[in-house]
Amino acid sequence: MSSLFTPRRLGTLELPNRMVMSPMTRCRSGENGVPTELNATYYRQRATAGLIVAEGTQVSPQGVGYPSTPGIHSLEQVSGWKRVTDAVHAAGGRIFLQLWHCGRVSHSFFHNGELPVAPSPIAINGKTLQFRGDGGVPFETPRPLETSEIPGVVDQYRQGAKNAKAAGFDGVEIHGAFGYLPDQFLQDGTNQRKDEYGGSVENRAKFLLEVTSAAMEAWGADRVGVKLSPSNTYNDMRDSDPIETFSFVVAALSKMGIGYVHIMEASDSDLRHGGKAIPVTTFRPHFEGTLIVNQDYDQAKAEAVLARGDADLVSFARLFLANPDLPKRFATEAPLNAADPATFYGGNEKGYTDYPFLEE
Ligand SMILES: Cc1cc2nc3c(=O)[nH]c(=O)nc-3n(C[C@H](O)[C@H](O)[C@H](O)COP(=O)(O)O)c2cc1C
Repeated sequence: MSSLFTPRRLGTLELPNRMVMSPMTRCRSGENGVPTELNATYYRQRATAGLIVAEGTQVSPQGVGYPSTPGIHSLEQVSGWKRVTDAVHAAGGRIFLQLWHCGRVSHSFFHNGELPVAPSPIAINGKTLQFRGDGGVPFETPRPLETSEIPGVVDQYRQGAKNAKAAGFDGVEIHGAFGYLPDQFLQDGTNQRKDEYGGSVENRAKFLLEVTSAAMEAWGADRVGVKLSPSNTYNDMRDSDPIETFSFVVAALSKMGIGYVHIMEASDSDLRHGGKAIPVTTFRPHFEGTLIVNQDYDQAKAEAVLARGDADLVSFARLFLANPDLPKRFATEAPLNAADPATFYGGNEKGYTDYPFLEE
């Protein structure tokens, strides 16, 4: 029976434990989306995770949706990330990069006045996160991508995956969750296309699967993961049959032999907003590789899901944010630091690199 402390092989990578640091946007990149020494310190502090998945990172300027988030499309960004990966490796850790394109979860503010792009011209009902000190502005109706433009967007991911390799990462995770571009293609609430990228679930999944194949060209299958959020309602997402949609996708990814799928279960907010509680067990029979489960896991719940064999690894976001030495705290049943939501996004080292470690 596996526990959080049982090593696990991920392709050719040996993970010393089953605790994954889930990707977290912290809006603390340097100018032009270049990671800094402060970012390297933050990730190095968390290197005892079995695997770190670094925050959502734009594959192109077109993919930007938030301020002070990193990119992986310029040489400067690659060098900035190299500092991060070197720091994590020197501390004995392993780190993947999450490849991100926000699609409609953006604003013309980030694109010299041009509208953000999406599968279909459907606006998010809501406001952007505050980015001009104004409490957020209503989302705009995005510009639908022409069919002929889509291979170019897939190329952005292909290049991002290559650049992640040059930056010294151990692999990449495609951000297919939370209503960003691949998810906008997948779900029928945001995809009303009439071409081969819309309609049937096979067509709606095409973009995500093409992006995944593009990443595999640089990495081989076992160093590519995909994050999915079948129960998610955040960013105004919905699908008429999420179990069918996501079961199809997970089975297709299994056939491609990718390293892992990273599945988010429903949050309280999803359930309040009409999301379905779809447990990870729904997808277990469809995926032969490593399954990572996420959302509101603590140590006891994580041990239980591993003991049942319902997942192979468990990812923790807020617990790793607030506890750089989370594996040690779990091992010693030490008390946990509480995360401070006021310092999640933006700012400096406060609430970022100053969460205390256990006393030696
Ligand atoms: C500050 C913050 C930023 C996040 N940014 C990302 C992100 O960039 N990519 C992503 O896939 N999920 C992101 N998430 C979601 C987490 O990875 C995770 O799925 C979610 O917080 C649930 O895990 P938890 O209950 O252990 O916190 C973020 C969460 C937090 C708290």
